[in-house]
Amino acid sequence: MIRLEHVTKSFLINKEPFLVLKYLNFSVRAGEFIGILGRSGSGKSTLLNLIGFLDAKFDGNYYFEDKLISDYSDDELSSIRNHNVGFVFQNFGLIENMTVRQNVAVPLMYSGVSARSSKEKVEAALSKVGLADFMDQSVRLLSGGQRQRVAVARAIVNQPSFIIADEPTGALDSHTSREIMDLFQALNRQGTTVILVTHDESLKSYCDRVIHLLDGEIVE
Ligand SMILES: Nc1ncnc2c1ncn2[C@@H]1O[C@H](COP(=O)(O)OP(=O)(O)O)[C@@H](O)[C@H]1O
Ligand SMILES: [Mg+2]
Repeated sequence: MIRLEHVTKSFLINKEPFLVLKYLNFSVRAGEFIGILGRSGSGKSTLLNLIGFLDAKFDGNYYFEDKLISDYSDDELSSIRNHNVGFVFQNFGLIENMTVRQNVAVPLMYSGVSARSSKEKVEAALSKVGLADFMDQSVRLLSGGQRQRVAVARAIVNQPSFIIADEPTGALDSHTSREIMDLFQALNRQGTTVILVTHDESLKSYCDRVIHLLDGEIVE
């Protein structure tokens, strides 16, 4: 599904190019649960932005479904992103003055789904994450674990090809972290491809395969 060939990314720091990702080669197959591990500053988030079609400025080749993404325009890439990727972040990224239901519906606002179909999709996603009883609550009233479940429901509501999770348990205690990881595992067993980024080695056991990043290079 995803294939990176010699992908390199640099930022200008004090007018000097600084290589954040160095000649990365790897692929992700549909249905996999893949972990990208590495300490802070190793380039994990930079790599996720690239895989999630948020950043198209890099060298090398990125093939998605066997098509080179550099062949697409910005608008085409936005559309590919909206239809194929679900994002989950460490700090949940919820809209505070909205209900649970409204937060989960956000990605559907950009995909031309009818109101009725949107309602069905939102309710199905919230049932999957175990929040069917909380749909009309304000997200302000939820615990951290419940907030992350809302974010996961929002990520899956469009039935994306893959989920990108950047340190999704970084703000949670260890018990709640396990619950969220169990949720990703359940979704993966139902067919969702999961790309997890973490610095937490203890989460390895959830992954089919782990890639270690060190200073922008794959070391393992
Ligand atoms: N927009 C940017 N401009 C300059 N340097 C950046 C930018 N984004 C990230 N970096 C640098 O790239 C390196 C990798 O960052 P990042 O991908 O966020 O790492 P990680 O997610 O593994 O902690 C860091 O040294 C960071 O300072
Ligand atoms: Mg990061």
